[in-house]
Amino acid sequence: MTLAQISVLSSLVALVSAASTPSFSPQYDNVSATCARIAKAISSSSGVFYPDSTQYAADIAHYSEGSTQNSTCSVEPGTTEDVGIILQILGRDRTPFAVKGGGHATNQGFSSTPGVQIAMSRFSTVQNNPSSGTVDVGAGLIWDSVYEALNETGVGVVGGRVSGIGVSGFTLGGGYSWKTNQYGLSLDNVAAYELVLPNGVVTSITNTSGDLWFALRGGSNNFGIVTKFTLVSHPQTDVWGGFVVFDGSQYGALSAAVSNFDLTNTDKKAQLIFTYGFLSGNVVLSLNPFYDGPTPPQGLFDAMLAPPSLSRDVKTRSFSSLVQSVPTESVGTRQAYSTVPILKYTPALFQAIQNSSQFWSARLTAVEPDTFLTINSEPFSDALYSYSPSSPSAYPPTRDLPLTPLNIDVGWSDPANDAFMRATLAQATADLHAAAVKLGQAVEDDFLYGNYALADTPVDKIYGKNVERLRAIKRKYDPGNVMGLAGGFKL
Ligand SMILES: Cc1cc2nc3c(=O)[nH]c(=O)nc-3n(C[C@H](O)[C@H](O)[C@H](O)COP(=O)(O)OP(=O)(O)OC[C@H]3O[C@@H](n4cnc5c(N)ncnc54)[C@H](O)[C@@H]3O)c2cc1C
Ligand SMILES: *[C@@H]1O[C@H](CO)[C@@H](O)[C@H](O)[C@H]1NC(C)=O
Ligand SMILES: *[C@@H]1O[C@H](CO)[C@@H](O)[C@H](O)[C@H]1NC(C)=O
Ligand SMILES: *[C@@H]1O[C@H](CO)[C@@H](O)[C@H](O)[C@H]1NC(C)=O
Ligand SMILES: *[C@@H]1O[C@H](CO)[C@@H](O)[C@H](O)[C@H]1NC(C)=O
Ligand SMILES: *[C@@H]1O[C@H](CO)[C@@H](O)[C@H](O)[C@H]1NC(C)=O
Repeated sequence: MTLAQISVLSSLVALVSAASTPSFSPQYDNVSATCARIAKAISSSSGVFYPDSTQYAADIAHYSEGSTQNSTCSVEPGTTEDVGIILQILGRDRTPFAVKGGGHATNQGFSSTPGVQIAMSRFSTVQNNPSSGTVDVGAGLIWDSVYEALNETGVGVVGGRVSGIGVSGFTLGGGYSWKTNQYGLSLDNVAAYELVLPNGVVTSITNTSGDLWFALRGGSNNFGIVTKFTLVSHPQTDVWGGFVVFDGSQYGALSAAVSNFDLTNTDKKAQLIFTYGFLSGNVVLSLNPFYDGPTPPQGLFDAMLAPPSLSRDVKTRSFSSLVQSVPTESVGTRQAYSTVPILKYTPALFQAIQNSSQFWSARLTAVEPDTFLTINSEPFSDALYSYSPSSPSAYPPTRDLPLTPLNIDVGWSDPANDAFMRATLAQATADLHAAAVKLGQAVEDDFLYGNYALADTPVDKIYGKNVERLRAIKRKYDPGNVMGLAGGFKL
């Protein structure tokens, strides 16, 4: 931001904070009136939609049905100015709202609301800028579309690993990618954010912007609505990898091979996800090997691919095809995620993971037989947080502790079991964490990845010592707490 922009900004901030002291009567109880006011104020590039329209259905839809709520109306803003107008109306009316990128949040209310659902889908441009080594990406896109647009351009970006994930929530929360060993998190590879501040002002945030640069790098939806990400691009060739499924009897061989990989591999182009799954009473193991080049060095993945598999799709392919190769359709219609931050995947830790899966899946399936439970091991290089030495970020709160986000995922279908499933997942997570601490592969004083964390996680567990600074930035740019009307991890 230039000095002139900063001064314009501070006078606007002052104006809006004066305006948002309670001289307006709250319209909280009449969201329909807010919808009507928005419809009247926005340009023809944007639209407001109501139940029974196909746009509304698409706007409120989420990956996990349990994250969807029936909102009073949905809004598809088409310009940054309209996003600003919408935020001002919502703030003035004190109307609850939600911002949805790709809709993959597994916590209800994080990108859904009974109030006004904002869907970012009209921000859908991908523009490759070879001269600056960046790619502009609209905030309503899913990574699949970005990879498709970049297919055969020779460049790639640091984004989602499987199909369907939104660019916005992923990047604003952190972003563990297939390229994280080489380039860090997604947030370490943003050159600029186009941000609509809670007061409606449209601004560009870069590494010379100070506070908001720090805050947006992990601060999710607390500081406004992002409409565009300018991402740093990297050379992209064809890659190697895919998806392999094994039955439970191969766990000994596979976990030994994955453990050996995590403890000894130094090739940063190589990564993997290894999953212990329990599905309707059966153990199913899966492996996603990845190499950022057409062929992995000989021997690197051999021990993992040697055991007999139930299905196997591993080959040299485009990055886009690699991301599409991992099935992500959910088995149950409702899902919850949690995380146990792990240092290294030792053989003893893999035994604890197996025990945890067996113990807790028995309890889950006793209540709903078709429940699934997956424990996803996501080993990364110890260098994963070393790619932003001069620029601190909201997340991770420390870059000195190479914690990797093991992910536990529970899926079920009956809404009546929501509370039970989440409580059981929380207990399983705490137990596995305790077991990992005992084995020296987790620490008490750790931090959790917000994009995998259960909704009741305290914010200081995600942002650590950064919470106070983030609260101060929040008070400065959102004095009326407009973004507090949207759900998520609130500062
Ligand atoms: C199948 C699956 C696989 C996953 N794999 C990975 C992985 O490999 N690596 C990883 O790091 N994470 C992964 N995740 C977690 C993922 O990062 C989060 O679910 C993330 O929130 C998805 O972003 P989204 O835009 O789809 O989410 P949404 O649900 O749309 O949004 C999530 C949060 O971001 C906010 N938000 C969205 N758009 C904006 C915006 N434009 N401006 C301001 N705030 C906004 C929302 O309000 C909400 O609080 C995975 C999740 C799933 C379900
Ligand atoms: C709410 O707003 C709508 C649309 O403006 C209006 O038709 C309705 O009468 C209002 N209801 C109440 C209870 O004020
Ligand atoms: C949303 O409304 C529809 C139609 O009234 C209803 O069938 C559905 O159960 C509601 N969904 C939620 C999540 O409340
Ligand atoms: C991507 O490019 C490859 C050639 O490298 C081509 O075979 C494939 O069809 C393209 N995929 C998409 C999704 O465009
Ligand atoms: C800020 O970003 C520019 C361009 O993206 C880069 O050249 C510069 O090194 C960065 N500065 C810092 C302190 O990270
Ligand atoms: C297996 O996990 C359960 C639940 O976390 C725990 O109570 C038990 O002690 C574990 N058993 C072993 C052998 O680790």
